[in-house]
Amino acid sequence: LLLLCGGGVAAITWSFTRAGIDTTGKVEFERALRIPPLAQSTVDKDGRRVFELRAQAGESDLGHGATRTWGYNGSYLGPTLRAERGEQVVVNIRNGLGESTTVHWHGMHLPAQADGGPHRPIVAGGSFQAAWKLDQPAATLWYHPHPDQRTEAQVYRGLAGMFITDDPATDSAALPHEYGVDDVPVIVQDKDFDGSQLSMSGRFGSDIGVLGDEILVNGTPGPYLDVPTELVRLRLLNGSTARIYNFTFSDGRPFALVGTDGGLLEEPYPMRQLRLSVGERAEIVVAMQPGERVTLRSVKPLPEFDFGNRKFNGGDDSFDVLQLRAAPALRKSTALPKTLVATPRLDPKQAAKTRDFTFSDREINDDRMDMERVDAVVVKNTIEVWNVRNGHDTPHSFHIHDVQFQVLTVDGAAPPPQLGGWKDTIFLEPRKRYSVIARFSDYADPTTAYMFHCHVLKHEDEGMMGQFVIVEKAGDKPRLAHG
Ligand code: C2O
Ligand code: CU
Repeated sequence: LLLLCGGGVAAITWSFTRAGIDTTGKVEFERALRIPPLAQSTVDKDGRRVFELRAQAGESDLGHGATRTWGYNGSYLGPTLRAERGEQVVVNIRNGLGESTTVHWHGMHLPAQADGGPHRPIVAGGSFQAAWKLDQPAATLWYHPHPDQRTEAQVYRGLAGMFITDDPATDSAALPHEYGVDDVPVIVQDKDFDGSQLSMSGRFGSDIGVLGDEILVNGTPGPYLDVPTELVRLRLLNGSTARIYNFTFSDGRPFALVGTDGGLLEEPYPMRQLRLSVGERAEIVVAMQPGERVTLRSVKPLPEFDFGNRKFNGGDDSFDVLQLRAAPALRKSTALPKTLVATPRLDPKQAAKTRDFTFSDREINDDRMDMERVDAVVVKNTIEVWNVRNGHDTPHSFHIHDVQFQVLTVDGAAPPPQLGGWKDTIFLEPRKRYSVIARFSDYADPTTAYMFHCHVLKHEDEGMMGQFVIVEKAGDKPRLAHG
């Protein structure tokens, strides 16, 4: 509306309603970045790597004194799980909360029964064992709750963690790789506080859910990271419930994008700005000079969109995120390699099926989630092309469980480098069309669905989600069994 107005009064209204949050240059970086501990594991008699995770309530100081929070094995967030390709992984999950939860392994290829979707709630006081064989490239994945209609609230309170998969064949020994030293998890989340307490009201009413006016990294407000090496690798995870970030450095320096959701790119790609929507990850490498300080920030992520509700979507907001402090003398890093990992392209000519999904304000193909309805029956181990269109002005974030896909086109054109590697989540810009291709699971299970959905968690909770089932052969019917 305001876009159509001219004149003085309108101009005043304009600047008032458009003013986004801007914390750049205003954050005092007073706390050392907390590094989530690597999860302890044991090896059982069958050689399986066994982790224990307990979802629990506690108190944390997120910058305003003690507030009630949730975490895994602690009071906020969870440990970083790490396992190697080929290993059998077991995670024993206990629910120490007062309500049902699940744990979903975002980006992980595993049987639907272990996937942690909303069909298999772990009741308060209950437990669940997720087990699978890790078989995918080295990547930065994550885990978070996925219970029916409660995902936003549970993630917002602090339930989330990183899962790093290792594979010498698809990682690069030349990249910085000392965990917590020059290879650092950076879980970015926005929060709103009401006095000392975490609040879910958000600064504005928002059609995408809570938009906080403060940023935490790994649960640390105003964090700085001491960097002892010439190069530092940051594993960025947008672990927010709704907010989109547009990462850049305070002095505009270039950095190298080396990996996206499902693994490393074919080669490092130099960039100065990188947008991540909810649930997306990126691995970047940045070069430091001795003694210097530079700030990772997020600047207006949606400046090019002129939809009327932009202010509610945080598209004008800018934040200081994390200060990097280089030591006076830096340890030598290996130079970035020219090439990283060869990624064979999936061929649309081999697709067994093409499906179309249109996202509206809150529906996918005019439907909301129905646990009894199967939206796609996919034959195991086949390739499919999914055409996903955001037909609305609301930004969405599209995620498919179990698979890593490749983006074929964005509005008919070749994807930008940021979408050139393995992805499980992509930003759906308003009114744009995306075509993605994936080879689907080799685990047929007609009884259990995988999800695909908008990763804006309020939208997901409101039913912007569908389900697909993997069957053994064409013509087989799903027989959902859950409870
Ligand atoms: Cu990260 Cu279905 O979610
Ligand atoms: Cu959405």
